[in-house]
Amino acid sequence: MSDQAAPKGDYHFYDYKPAQDDMADEVLQGLTSSPKHISPKYFYDTAGSLLFERITELKEYYLTRTEMALFNAHLPDIADQLPQHSCLIEYGSGSSLKIRKVLENLVPRAYVPVDISSRHLQDNAQALQEDFPELDVYPVCADITQVFALPVQVEWMPKVAFFPGSSIGNFEPHEARDFLRNVHQTIGPEGALIIGVDRKKDHGVLEAAYNDAKGVTAAFNLNVLRHFNQALSANFDLSNFRHEARYDDLGGRVQMFLKSLEDQEVQVNGEKVHFCANEIIHTENSYKYHPEEFLSLADGAGFKPLAQYDDKRGWFSIYLLSSA
Ligand code: AVI
Repeated sequence: MSDQAAPKGDYHFYDYKPAQDDMADEVLQGLTSSPKHISPKYFYDTAGSLLFERITELKEYYLTRTEMALFNAHLPDIADQLPQHSCLIEYGSGSSLKIRKVLENLVPRAYVPVDISSRHLQDNAQALQEDFPELDVYPVCADITQVFALPVQVEWMPKVAFFPGSSIGNFEPHEARDFLRNVHQTIGPEGALIIGVDRKKDHGVLEAAYNDAKGVTAAFNLNVLRHFNQALSANFDLSNFRHEARYDDLGGRVQMFLKSLEDQEVQVNGEKVHFCANEIIHTENSYKYHPEEFLSLADGAGFKPLAQYDDKRGWFSIYLLSSA
C-alpha cells in the first residue's frame, strides 16, 4: 500500500440480531388470524431487497424517481440548514443511489445505516465506505420499529435521521407516530429528520404503481412466501397464490394481498395452516398522506417543519423536520 493512501474512516458492524426468535410465532399468529395477515418487514430478505430495488426502477413506480429528482434539486438547500460533522442515521438501508447523493451534499462525519436484513446491510455499507473512504461507517442490524442503541462512536455528534422512500407509509398511522417518537428519542432535541412521503393522488396512478406490467411487484409480494419456506421450513407453493393490490379510499392506503388460488394446507414451522380458495393474506399497507396530515403526525411526535419540497404534480413531498 502506498504511503499516500487516502485516510480510512472507521468501520464497525453492530448486530443486535433482531427478533429472529419471534418470527415463527408472529407469522403463525398472523396466518391463523381472520383475516390472515403478515408484517411487510418479512419482504426484505436478500432476494426481496433485490426485488425491491427493481421495483424502484419501474416505469409505473413513480415514487423513487420523483423523490430522487427532489433530492437532486434541493439537497444543497437542505445541507445549508444542517449542522456540520453530523452523524447521518439511515432507517432501512438499501436506497443506494439516494444515499450517495445525500452523503455527497451533507458530508457527514459518520453514517449509520440501520436495517433488519444483515447481508444486504453489510454489502451496502462496505461498498459505501469504499466510495467515501473518509467517512466513518457503522452499520446496525436492528428492527427499526424498536428503540436501539446508537454506536458509542457517534454519541458526541449532532444527529440527522434519514427515512426516504415513503417507508413511513408502510406503518399504521399510530405505528408511524410511535416510530417518529422513537426517532426523536434517538436523535435527541438538537437533531433533524429528512423524510420522504408519498401523497394522496389519482387512484389509477396509485394502483398502477403497485400492479406493474412486468410483474416485479407480484414477484416481490410472492417472495415473502419463499422467505417463509426458507426461514420457517414452510412449504408454500408460490404458484398457488396470486398478487393483488388496490387503493382503499377510506383508509387512504394502497393494500397488497396474496390470494390463495385453491383450498390448501401449508406447513409452517411444523404447524398446519389452512387456506380456503380465494382466501387472502394481507401483506402490506402503503399509506399516502396529504402534507397537513403528515405534518400533524410529525407534530405529535415532537417534530417541527423546517422546510418542505414538493414536485410540480404534487405527488411526493420531502420534509426537513427539527426535533427541537
Ligand atoms: C418500501 N415501501 C415504501 C414500498 C411502498 O411503496 O410501500 C414497498 C412496496 N410495496 C410494493 N411496492 C413497493
